[in-house]
Amino acid sequence: MDVPVKSSSENKQLTDQFGRTINYLRLSVTDRCDLRCRYCMAEDMTFLPKSDVLTLEELCELSSAFIARGVRRIRLTGGEPLVRKNILWLVRALGSKVEQGLLDEVTLTTNGTQLPTMAEDLYRAGVRRINVSLDTLSAEGFKAISRRDKLETVLEGIQAAKAAGLRVKINTVAMRNFNETEIPDLVEWAVQEGLDLTLIETMPLGEVQDARESSYLPLTAVKNALEQRFTLEPSTHKTGGPARYFSVGDSKSRLGMITPLTNNFCDGCNRVRVTCTGRIYMCLGQDDHIDLRAALRSQGKEEELSAALDTAMGLKPKGHDFAMSNGQMVGKVDRHMSQTGG
Ligand code: 5AD
Ligand code: SF4
Repeated sequence: MDVPVKSSSENKQLTDQFGRTINYLRLSVTDRCDLRCRYCMAEDMTFLPKSDVLTLEELCELSSAFIARGVRRIRLTGGEPLVRKNILWLVRALGSKVEQGLLDEVTLTTNGTQLPTMAEDLYRAGVRRINVSLDTLSAEGFKAISRRDKLETVLEGIQAAKAAGLRVKINTVAMRNFNETEIPDLVEWAVQEGLDLTLIETMPLGEVQDARESSYLPLTAVKNALEQRFTLEPSTHKTGGPARYFSVGDSKSRLGMITPLTNNFCDGCNRVRVTCTGRIYMCLGQDDHIDLRAALRSQGKEEELSAALDTAMGLKPKGHDFAMSNGQMVGKVDRHMSQTGG
């Protein structure tokens, strides 16, 4: 019987060495940001020279290479993805892949500052859901944590996103001595606004001014506090991601918890990250990576990229090593979240 000859990796679903299906790409489009969140960045950051950053066309080609290998969802991240010049071009290009059925969805993680002017364009480009990072509803608190005075703009951006028809999920990093006592109010606000909200434990990514340990807040404690005020029921909702979800009373809002330190969910990991310079990181919490740029710029880029993705799958680690040990946060990596992509 004649068997059609195929190159070994052609059209094959990306699957890592532990049998996990990789169908989700988080693509960082810039390492720059207009905020300087204390847990994410140092006060003065050295950003990449523009010449090191892939062009939007290259980011689109990279996306196609992942789609050819079974990736169904792409999230644009940063830094702040919406400060990248002409980013809507890429969003539209990916949106049209959704329209053609090549991709299930294109989403974004944003700090919200550009949403007042960009929310409608994002919807028109094909985005239906976004994540907005917001750690507090206090103007003073916002200024303290992000080192910028932009709470009003972000709140305006969230309203603009809702008005445009985007489903909004808030991402809140839970921090001791910062928003610990405010978290129940944040949840209440999210419920009233019809938003989902996910709490995240601080991870030791890159050097920042403050010691990570001093602000570390295990979500186990937060959950207990929330249960004094809300009825939380585990929800069946799953994204294949690291969050576990709860319903909040009889509201439509979902509460997510991302607990890399108290309870990691690496076993079900479905994702890889690509930086704006074209490096693929197989895990947020490990240093293993491959540079895809040479493959992307080669003659036979489709085959070369596909082969590089197979190599990457063989190197995807089992999980991160973040943990608290004797009051110290261990498993640190040198890269900031804004470098790997949030
Ligand atoms: N630990 C946990 N969350 C972080 N983020 C940025 N840096 C860290 C960190 N060190 C969050 C941002 C954003 C999301 C992409 O990651 O607040 O919501
Ligand atoms: Fe910017 Fe997000 Fe980092 Fe804050 S957490 S500095 S908004 S990239």
